[in-house]
Amino acid sequence: MSLKTELKKRLAVIDKELEVFLPIYSDPQGVIFESMRYSMFAGGKRLRPILMLAACEFVGGNKALAMPYACALEMIHTYSLIHDDLPAMDDDDYRRGKLTNHKVYGDGLAILAGDGLLNLAYETMLNTVKDFTGFSERKIKAMLEISQASGVHGMIGGQVVDLLSENKKIDGDTLYFIHYHKTASLIIASVRAGAIIGGASDEELEALTRYAKNIGLGFQITDDILDLIGDEKKIGKKVGSDLQNQKSTFPSIYGLEYSKSKVIELLDDSIEALQPFGNRATFLMELAEYLVKRDY
Ligand code: IPE
Ligand code: IPE
Ligand code: MG
Ligand code: MG
Ligand code: MG
Repeated sequence: MSLKTELKKRLAVIDKELEVFLPIYSDPQGVIFESMRYSMFAGGKRLRPILMLAACEFVGGNKALAMPYACALEMIHTYSLIHDDLPAMDDDDYRRGKLTNHKVYGDGLAILAGDGLLNLAYETMLNTVKDFTGFSERKIKAMLEISQASGVHGMIGGQVVDLLSENKKIDGDTLYFIHYHKTASLIIASVRAGAIIGGASDEELEALTRYAKNIGLGFQITDDILDLIGDEKKIGKKVGSDLQNQKSTFPSIYGLEYSKSKVIELLDDSIEALQPFGNRATFLMELAEYLVKRDY
């Protein structure tokens, strides 16, 4: 099966689970469910849940145990996108090939839909431990990974420095801080939490962490490149947003050619990290290549 077909299959399984967690209620606040679903089912790549389940599988774990966590990660990621697009942040009109959430539901509801998804993520994870059905220690460790990675020492922290750096010249270390925190940290948590739930050994966890750090950084550099020279139809968002917001990006600081070569260097290191595991790592290796070498 080709990687594209395999990814489609995995995406469909995740979407079916997400449907279960995001029903529509006809309560007085019913529109919030519509708004959350609007962004959730707008066509994301589901990279983080796919990575999480693949990491769990890689260490020989039970993917069913990791599934609620994979859905929770996608909820957190989708909330971060809804807020990232708001006028007070990147002020973007298109996401996942559709109008952004606030363009359809207004700023207030978009903020609340983001908050709603974030809370639902924790509810979804906590529900897996409330009945003490086993593996509680692994589950709590996974939750801690996810909450730290998405919080002020992780994704939110990166978004803060990203905002503070608009219209400014920043150095390479600050750019690294932004990219590592706003994007790589949730990608690292996806892989680590999946591996932890699956019962990873120290050696596996260490290798997977190195793998995920590399693809996390590579993924954001590629996102920066695509913001400059990508195809709007393929990326589902407007090209040129970073220039308009005077963001410091990898290409704006280091140039396009160096950015492309950096992506390859990171990809090579991510693959090398999993080399000792042989065939078992094939899917994760192919996924790394697909993620960081997305169409320019
Ligand atoms: C976009 O993430 C935001 C970044 C961290 C670069 P994705 O490119 O994974 O977005 P979706 O989920 O596929 O829409
Ligand atoms: C966003 O980075 C990272 C998030 C945590 C959402 P960007 O602002 O570059 O992401 P896009 O390009 O809007 O998807
Ligand atoms: Mg942003
Ligand atoms: Mg943005
Ligand atoms: Mg971007």
